[in-house]
Amino acid sequence: PKRVAILISGGGSNMVELLRTMTGDHPARPVLVLSNDPAAGGLAKARDLGVETAVVDHRPHGRDRTAFESALQAALAPYAPDILCLAGFMRILTPGFVAPWKGRMLNIHPSLLPLYPGLHTHARALANRDREHGCTVHEVTEELDHGPILGQARVLVLPGDTPDTLAARVLGREHVLYPAVLRRYAAGDRTPVLLP
Ligand code: GAR
Repeated sequence: PKRVAILISGGGSNMVELLRTMTGDHPARPVLVLSNDPAAGGLAKARDLGVETAVVDHRPHGRDRTAFESALQAALAPYAPDILCLAGFMRILTPGFVAPWKGRMLNIHPSLLPLYPGLHTHARALANRDREHGCTVHEVTEELDHGPILGQARVLVLPGDTPDTLAARVLGREHVLYPAVLRRYAAGDRTPVLLP
């Protein structure tokens, strides 16, 4: 099976769904969960599910992204991952880090890309009075939130939605979309997964 490392910064609910599905005849297995934040709630959840964890804190490196990314690369190397999954990983990666992982790194983003790259996606969808919103899994390339789309899931925006209610509904779809995309991707199939 393909060896998967998951990068997180927070609660790791997407990570949990990815970990839970990588069993049985799944074409991938988790080898490491890595966080840039030692306080990330997802670390304990990964350990509870029997997966090794590591922390590469970005803060000691200050503005030196290259030093942070060297430390990241060094922490990943012993696990020899075939695929990196970003799952709520909130650090921007420079082209120097992305290049060696090109075609092997996925990200989940809480909008229907190409709409709303970057932050505050739910508030922006509401401000634009969009009738639908959703999430995207894409390959990571040098340009933030712009790689080839591997899957999308949609939700209707409802009257009275706030950024929080919308985020919660989108997150529920993320939990279905990301495992579906990873299963296909790890099997070598890059056909987009398009969910209603
Ligand atoms: C998810 O909604 C994910 O799409 C988003 O952060 C949340 C992480 O939740 N990612 C980004 O905004 C990336 N820029 P989780 O830690 O519970 O999976």
